[in-house]
Amino acid sequence: MDSSHTQSIVSALPKSVKIVEVGPRDGLQNEKTVPLDVKVELINRLSQTGLRHIESGAFVSANKIPQMADSEQVFQYIQRAANVSYSALTPNIKGLEQAIQSQVDEVAVFSSVSESFCQRNINCSITESLNRFKPVIALAREHNIRVRGYLSCVIDCPYDGATNPKHVASLAKQMLDIGCYEISLGDTIGTGTPLRVATMLEAVLAQCPKESIAVHFHDTYGQAIANIYQALLMGISTIDSSVAGLGGCPYAKGASGNVATEEVVYLCHGLGIETGVNLEKIVEVGRALRKNLN
Ligand code: HMG
Ligand code: MG
Repeated sequence: MDSSHTQSIVSALPKSVKIVEVGPRDGLQNEKTVPLDVKVELINRLSQTGLRHIESGAFVSANKIPQMADSEQVFQYIQRAANVSYSALTPNIKGLEQAIQSQVDEVAVFSSVSESFCQRNINCSITESLNRFKPVIALAREHNIRVRGYLSCVIDCPYDGATNPKHVASLAKQMLDIGCYEISLGDTIGTGTPLRVATMLEAVLAQCPKESIAVHFHDTYGQAIANIYQALLMGISTIDSSVAGLGGCPYAKGASGNVATEEVVYLCHGLGIETGVNLEKIVEVGRALRKNLN
């Protein structure tokens, strides 16, 4: 490999990335029963690794996701580090009101590029979901709470098949327009490969600034790290990951864990990209968690 090739890679990559740790939410929503003290300890330990953003729970229907039913207690008992933002999913006003009560720093609304997944996940159409988010975003603003937006099924849907990149771009733009500050693009079932990810991101970046886009890969087919590398080369600098690679979605059968935070940190540091995260510490948190969850 000649040095000009290496140089062109290095100059395309961001200098630093923000890692959004989603293990306590996306990871644990897929585990059968996790005691409250294990969740609290996990978040407390993650807070000491240099991570700046930890998605710590979800204010959603307990009938649908019983694993997140204790989110209020989680937020009550964690020891908050001053430089960490603790966030939660809030699909509607009811969820946001609970998040405000729990003094959550940031919330996230979540929709999908696929109609079938949207119906199964949040029981409404994509258009209805955006309309539902508008008052959530307005109320969050009144409380100075930033709102992140998630879009699921940006590559494939378990029910509707392949996703059209133009639809991803148009919905990401619409979610920014209604007031989300960042859109996390979810490869919910982990079927993406770097070329498809590049095609999808190219469509999105034609409509949305790269600073407003995050990527969220599940590692079902072992492609997550390759997909993240592709996203980094295209200037994306916000990456979702889950300590120990926990995760999945109950409405996406077969979807395995999120990409492991340890692997993302290792990749970034190897590429000369700052993460602010201490690799040894995050590996240790992952080890302890695996032991706790058997
Ligand atoms: P619905 O049934 O249409 O809502 O659900 P509803 O307003 O008719 O309420 C039904 C029941 O839920 C009522 O209780 C409400 O009180 C209760 P009941 O009277 O029957 O006892 N309820 C709530 N409870 C707690 N918190 C709330 C809330 N809202 C209503 N906020 C709803 C609509 C969105 C609430 C429901 O479908 C739901 O909670 N879905 C959550 C699904 C979910 O959490 N999925 C996993 C996260 S998404 C994901 O993992 C993908 C992601 O990682 C990215 C990727 O990988 O692609 C983000
Ligand atoms: Mg996910």
